[in-house]
Amino acid sequence: MTATKTILAVAALSLLQHAQATNFQYPPCLDPFQPFVYSGCFQDGSPRTLEYRSEQSSRNMTVEACVAECKGNGFRYAGLEYYGECYCGATVNSPALDEGLCNLPCNGNNTQTCGGNDALSIYQDPTFPTHPGDVDIEDYVPLGCYTDDGPNGRSLPWVRNIPQDTFTPAQCLSSCRDRGFPFAGTEYGQECYCGSVLGNYTTEVGAEECNMPCRGDASQTCGGSLRLNLYVARELLSLEPCGYEPPVDTTTTSVPTATSTTKSSSSTTKVPDTTTSSTTKVPDTTTTSSTTKAPDTTTTPSTTKFTSTTTTTSSVCTTTITPPNDCEYKVGKWCAPHFPDWEHENECLNAWKTCAKLVTSCWKYAGFPASLECLKFSSWCGDIKKYCNNDCKGKTCSKKGCFDKYKPQHPNPPKPPVTTTYPCPTTTVKTTTTKTTTTVVPEPTNICKQPTSKWHNYGPGNPVGGIELPLVTCNDIKEEFSSRPFKLYTEPDTHKCKSYSKWSCSDACKDACEEQHEECKETYVESCKPAWGSGKESPSKAHERCTAQYKDCLIENAWVDPGNRCKNWGSGLKRV
Ligand SMILES: *[C@@H]1O[C@H](CO)[C@@H](O)[C@H](O)[C@H]1NC(C)=O
Ligand SMILES: *[C@@H]1O[C@H](CO)[C@@H](O)[C@H](O)[C@H]1NC(C)=O
Ligand SMILES: *[C@@H]1O[C@H](CO)[C@@H](O)[C@H](O)[C@H]1NC(C)=O
Repeated sequence: MTATKTILAVAALSLLQHAQATNFQYPPCLDPFQPFVYSGCFQDGSPRTLEYRSEQSSRNMTVEACVAECKGNGFRYAGLEYYGECYCGATVNSPALDEGLCNLPCNGNNTQTCGGNDALSIYQDPTFPTHPGDVDIEDYVPLGCYTDDGPNGRSLPWVRNIPQDTFTPAQCLSSCRDRGFPFAGTEYGQECYCGSVLGNYTTEVGAEECNMPCRGDASQTCGGSLRLNLYVARELLSLEPCGYEPPVDTTTTSVPTATSTTKSSSSTTKVPDTTTSSTTKVPDTTTTSSTTKAPDTTTTPSTTKFTSTTTTTSSVCTTTITPPNDCEYKVGKWCAPHFPDWEHENECLNAWKTCAKLVTSCWKYAGFPASLECLKFSSWCGDIKKYCNNDCKGKTCSKKGCFDKYKPQHPNPPKPPVTTTYPCPTTTVKTTTTKTTTTVVPEPTNICKQPTSKWHNYGPGNPVGGIELPLVTCNDIKEEFSSRPFKLYTEPDTHKCKSYSKWSCSDACKDACEEQHEECKETYVESCKPAWGSGKESPSKAHERCTAQYKDCLIENAWVDPGNRCKNWGSGLKRV
């Protein structure tokens, strides 16, 4: 009886641990900060337009008090409703209302307006560089493995409901992005949290503590027990978080770091005098701008932007974005991530190079027997190259044209465009968007050599089972390039691939040989078993050839001299 009770209690406790997030609140910002700008009267409803509700009493509420709390908690928007309810949020995604509907005085200062019935008077922090509609999930960079649930509660307070059995990091990032949150974290294989600031006591721990595979994609890690795989989109952080001090030397541009938003924590409730000029109106100009950023060539950064049109009328903006397709070619459990659109031969060739980098991850993650189809994927990459060389030579061409001609296998249907409404960005923003990761598309020419054997019938262009030697070529991520200019492309997300210094190219090739050997056994030998084999060799013969190829591969690549390849970032790969 008692034992059962204890077990139930433990079960209930662990359920609680993993299902509930406490919505922590930092104190109002007491340091001077740039005043928020009035953005208009917006509709509130259910769910709330701004999801953070202040615990301050509404009895004494003023615009200054609400704004200071939102600033202290890293939010871009502050909203006041019904005489003094104070809310904060990272996006506003609800219709603008007639100004007349925000007509109630604030309890704490009756010369100020505190919204209306289901209507919010919204103020905006002008120090944010980018609107969430212009941020892609690729802009979220992994920070590592962090603790959750310290003495002060959760590290990230906003839990997202995502179907657990198909859970992937991309879904979590996209859910946090949609609500404008700069921080996102995955935990326990299936949980997603977002936040505008990190909770106290959030500390980095060894990567091995984030050891749980994602339920919907075992090739990726989704935290651990009370451990978060943490991500940040720095574009969604204020350039001047609470506690920011303007630089004395104006030539330094500092990008806020993850921890700088957690400064200021004294407990007095005095509101600084600097926040009183919050009645500045946004300009009434009407501009229409349309931005279509094409993907980049080999030498320029390839941070993908998706077509988005911004229409500005008065103080309400709408933006329409077409979300990237996270599965454009599917083989078993593996998906090729989004390819950027293209119009020119060079951009087309970049798509082919990107495709070539993905072949090994297909073999590695598709799972047998589906992995047999990776051969098809590999030859489809070749088709893209064909398209570039024939249909793009001196003509305009497109991804759509290419994919119509050479159909990708089982892609997910395209996602419908999403339209969002938000208060227009204020004009005082400095647009210093520093991209944190810059990638290039390296030439997919392997620095490792496929060995040859007449006896066992393999050689360049004819590896055992058609499974090519995994690609080792220039590192595509700038931050890694200076110390480790080479990379073994085995993962769909190249941030997760192993990279190597120029003195360890032989190690890189050794790892490539091993990877090829694994895939040879897992896919080719399996496919020769009686259940599959029709006219192929016996499994034992197949195994013998895989092993012989592996041993030859190690010998062939015992001394790899990269010569002058991958010497300079962005110079592509010089053939020697
Ligand atoms: C963080 O710690 C400070 C100082 O101990 C405290 O004042 C503050 O309320 C804490 N914040 C949260 C969100 O727990
Ligand atoms: C409101 O402010 C007044 C004066 O500043 C103070 O005396 C009072 O206790 C406050 N009331 C609440 C509910 O905070
Ligand atoms: C009330 O708000 C007005 C307008 O923002 C401001 O000028 C005034 O100083 C405020 N009064 C108090 C007592 O804070």
